[in-house]
Amino acid sequence: MPATVVVGTQWGDEGKGKFTDLVAGDMSMVVRYQGGHNAGHTLVVDGESFALQLVPSGVLYPHVTPVIGNGVVVDPRVLLAEMDMLESRGVSTSNLRLSGNAHLILPYHQELDALHERRLGKNKLGTTKRGIGPAYADRSMRVGIRVQDLLDEKIFCEKLRAALEHTNMVLTRVFNRLPVDADEVIEEYLGRCAPRLIPYICDAVGLVHDELEGGGRVLMEGAQATFLDVDHGTYPFVTSSNPIAGGACTGAGIGPRDIDRVIGIAKAYVTRVGAGPFPTELFDEIGDHFVDVGHEYGTNTGRRRRPGWLDAVMLRYAARVNSLSELAITKLDVLDQLETIRVCVAYEADGERHDQLPYHQSVLHRATPIYEELPGWGVDLSEVTERSQLPSQAEDYLSFVENQVGVPVDMVGVGPGRHQVLRFAT
Ligand code: IMP
Repeated sequence: MPATVVVGTQWGDEGKGKFTDLVAGDMSMVVRYQGGHNAGHTLVVDGESFALQLVPSGVLYPHVTPVIGNGVVVDPRVLLAEMDMLESRGVSTSNLRLSGNAHLILPYHQELDALHERRLGKNKLGTTKRGIGPAYADRSMRVGIRVQDLLDEKIFCEKLRAALEHTNMVLTRVFNRLPVDADEVIEEYLGRCAPRLIPYICDAVGLVHDELEGGGRVLMEGAQATFLDVDHGTYPFVTSSNPIAGGACTGAGIGPRDIDRVIGIAKAYVTRVGAGPFPTELFDEIGDHFVDVGHEYGTNTGRRRRPGWLDAVMLRYAARVNSLSELAITKLDVLDQLETIRVCVAYEADGERHDQLPYHQSVLHRATPIYEELPGWGVDLSEVTERSQLPSQAEDYLSFVENQVGVPVDMVGVGPGRHQVLRFAT
């Protein structure tokens, strides 16, 4: 049975965790395919909130096998802490599986992330400083250390010492820092983490294909989002992996024909954390409304997110690069009290109208949004359970978005709880 992909369509924090969790209930396996603990997925179940960074969302369902795919970068210390947190709250992690081909985040990746950011000064990217970029850089340089290396002490030590030859030169000579002590890393990773993680390490590609071939239902869970994609996002203000749906192929070892459904998650407005262009950004009281009512502070870093109006140009691009089959709109209730609602339908730059995302980033930096204004509904949507109960203005708003993007809206979030979702049959 082909797989389903859940992908963010903006700059992350669209509320993917909640929808992934919801869709995961119908699945037998959920696979994280990229990113690391830069992600923060918040799930609210029976009023209890779970903040996940690495463990796939499906962990909350006993019938789901959560898999961390080869495309993820894993800090074993963070993974173990998250597993301990879940176990202490009564959620079993015994089904979790970890790809032997995933790369490890090592302590020096985190240090280098922070040092690179400091070096960039006012041009910093605003990374999460979790070591994500340096870990993927080492993977591309072919000096990364993989999860499977935890199974072989000799290989782990050899690879670590080889990687440190270069890394310690950078740390000491470029950044004037102390060198990393290989023995300390070996003690922590091989001594303390490996014995606990080894039971979960597996051939994830084989596992996923056995599930697909056996008629199982597999969900591919993306972290971050389309506009943070290293190839298709607002480079260099992006993460170092491929959150787009195609990333599920490389990050989990499946082919494009193994996917038949791609759900794009879009918040009813837009936020971004970190630096980079943002045509519909707001610096007024509407922006404050999105941040305050939408609780727009990082799950992970606590940073205030930059707010803006919904941008249909971005969504059209996301629809193309992900081949979206449907949209899930989150946080519609955050718009409840607004008298009028704006949607950016095109950009204007240098006297020219752009209906599609301009490929040249300088144009995006200069672009000003062309808005259409729609009437608000002025009604609390948080208890709405059926599409038929939506006020006509909210229904019109959803139809407007569908027409602008050319993709049907299949689900709408009206609050943080699992039940606060309207599911439409399209
Ligand atoms: P990195 O992924 O830590 O290297 O950060 C690169 C960029 O991606 C920064 O602008 C981060 O704020 C952003 N970013 C990374 N993960 C997330 C996320 O889960 N949500 C929103 N932004 C993110």
